[in-house]
Amino acid sequence: MSTRIPGFYNLLPEERLSQIAKATNLTDKELEIIKGNKGFSVKEADRMIENVIGYMPIPLGIAVNFKINNKDAFIPMATEEPSVVAAASNAAKYAYDSGGFTTSYSGAIMRGQIQITEVKDPYGALAKVYENKREILQLCNKQDPTLVSLGGGAKNLEVHVIDGPTKKMVVVHLFVDTKDAMGANAVNTMAEAVAPLLEKITNGKVVLRILSNLADQRIVRARATFQDPFNDNKEAMNKFMDAYELAMIDPYRAATHNKGIMNGISSVVLASGNDTRAVEAGAHAYASRLGTYRSLTHWEKGENHSIIGTIELPLAVGLIGGATTSHPVAKLATKIMQVETAEELASNIASVGLAQNFAALRVLASEGIQQGHMRLHARNLALMAGAKDNQIDKVIELAAKQGKFKFDDIKKIVKALSY
Ligand code: MEV
Repeated sequence: MSTRIPGFYNLLPEERLSQIAKATNLTDKELEIIKGNKGFSVKEADRMIENVIGYMPIPLGIAVNFKINNKDAFIPMATEEPSVVAAASNAAKYAYDSGGFTTSYSGAIMRGQIQITEVKDPYGALAKVYENKREILQLCNKQDPTLVSLGGGAKNLEVHVIDGPTKKMVVVHLFVDTKDAMGANAVNTMAEAVAPLLEKITNGKVVLRILSNLADQRIVRARATFQDPFNDNKEAMNKFMDAYELAMIDPYRAATHNKGIMNGISSVVLASGNDTRAVEAGAHAYASRLGTYRSLTHWEKGENHSIIGTIELPLAVGLIGGATTSHPVAKLATKIMQVETAEELASNIASVGLAQNFAALRVLASEGIQQGHMRLHARNLALMAGAKDNQIDKVIELAAKQGKFKFDDIKKIVKALSY
């Protein structure tokens, strides 16, 4: 299977779906679900959250050209933002022939925090928690025999004495291998179950018992070489590097730089039914871990006018539990990606983040994003300007001919067509 499909962008949605269906063996029933005909019903929505009155459709696109760990992968992306899917696909093309994306994974260890207050002797309590480590971990693991039977479960703990604004407190961190689940439920259940035992050991009062979204033991790294993206134009290459450098030292730029990365990451996280807020919180907290908020990616000049990119971030995503299992479209998104483990899913997501950042810096360092963005946004603008469905293609054709994509220009074109 190859994800290099020239002209994929120019096909109709049903033609694109048919190509993806052929490549990833989707059944007719699954095609209907993706098209939204038999997909997500209000009944399903009502099972998922509270006070349901309907649901909010978001476009699902496919990024092409991705090769990740020597395997071609179509990437489903759920996003409302124009340009994101096109940018990821375009960036992946530059990395395809030089081997695509290569990733590594630290494993699926999540942290749970148990905060203990009113401890008279915090350092004595710290020592006692370590003395009782085996019993504490055993009690945690009793809560989830299935996870333990799969090789996961509570593996270790750490104790911190924290100086709060008015008092010292003891915080126990549980390290839980959640395997192919995101793991929030497993960790929170363990943290709550073990709290009374920790109160007994420390003679304190437990307040919080909850997972930490700073999943710094669940790190994914992705690397790719982007081949000659500027046609040997040294000035453009240097501008790309300058743009990256600013994101390493200036939090104002880093926030936007990382937002662009999250455009890709959150789209795949959402498409796969995972928790976008958990991933975003983890990514941004990790970006500040050295004291200043900075870029999640690094860029270096390679050989033959290439640029080598790397990304490193926590990705608490899974394939078991919650919407990943219950949302019919999310299940198909992971089928399309052909991922079977949380590691494979996280590898794909990190690769998309890297590609997205490459695409943003490349265009920002050259013509700027507005031209391409407005062109892709022209459909929305045409609709906003009152174009009928059968006029939209004509509006875009005329706008392209005139090289004018501002709302006022589009309005004029629509008005002229309507006379
Ligand atoms: C827009 O959604 C994302 C960008 O601002 C990212 C960036 O500036 O790197 C283009």
